[in-house]
Amino acid sequence: MKSFEFKGKISLITGANRGIGEAYVHALLKAGVKKVYAASRNLDNLKSLREHYPDNLEPVLLDVTNSDHINALKDQILSLDILINNAGIANNCSFTSENSLEIARQEMEVNYFAPIQIIQAVLPKLKLSSQALIINISSIAGISNFPNAAPYSATKAAMHSLTQGLRAELADEGIQVMGIYPGPIDTRMAEGFDMEKPAPKQVALETINALSKQEFDVFPDDFSKQMYEIFLEHPKQLEKVLYEMVRG
Ligand SMILES: NC(=O)c1ccc[n+]([C@@H]2O[C@H](COP(=O)([O-])OP(=O)(O)OC[C@H]3O[C@@H](n4cnc5c(N)ncnc54)[C@H](OP(=O)(O)O)[C@@H]3O)[C@@H](O)[C@H]2O)c1
Repeated sequence: MKSFEFKGKISLITGANRGIGEAYVHALLKAGVKKVYAASRNLDNLKSLREHYPDNLEPVLLDVTNSDHINALKDQILSLDILINNAGIANNCSFTSENSLEIARQEMEVNYFAPIQIIQAVLPKLKLSSQALIINISSIAGISNFPNAAPYSATKAAMHSLTQGLRAELADEGIQVMGIYPGPIDTRMAEGFDMEKPAPKQVALETINALSKQEFDVFPDDFSKQMYEIFLEHPKQLEKVLYEMVRG
């Protein structure tokens, strides 16, 4: 398959107003993408990006849990080549903590069900693209459960499985599907983690770099790379390492 060409492409990025989503906006436009539909549940939070890219950025109101917003994408987005399912939430709770069921449901809604609904809404446009790509932001916690964020990890495992399933389903359509599996990254989501945290820009740049090598599973930082190496040696070993890391 020919390598992915960013020049002239059109992208939709969810949760584009900050963190990793914002880093993808900058990286894609720098790589030659013609237009980014930058989605956020609050348009005011896209003001500075809009000022920065007056000609290439179109703000889109999208609370990913709002079906009306998702359905509106069908008319708002005229043409699309790249979808980045980035918006996400994380509550650092365990399965047995108070309200964990409610939290698990909220996290599944945002991190897993919403991307499915968004994919279904824009798939007809992606099918018309000469070279289409879906990028799903999972996490290294989707490869093996982090017990200090257990329900969140389950949503990211679901995202991993969704990525694998879609890849098989969409291969005949020529739509490529990438899974991104970061470790802790320096965004608001990882504020409480006292660990080395690369800048979100690294996730976006590693994604572009991986694509140029036709790699579709991306471990964009040293921590996720190390953890995935352990997983490949033996999945139980990673479970043990994470248990010890969290339980001390
Ligand atoms: N940071 C990490 O360590 C890390 C590691 C692995 C994977 N990830 C994944 O990377 C992705 C981006 O996270 P981040 O680190 O950039 O975190 P972040 O800075 O907290 O950003 C999260 C983004 O998701 C948006 N969002 C949350 N709920 C939404 C909703 N219902 N509708 C629309 N947008 C919503 C937020 O919008 P508001 O500004 O409106 O809240 C924000 O734009 C997530 O999927 C996360 O799980 C992060």
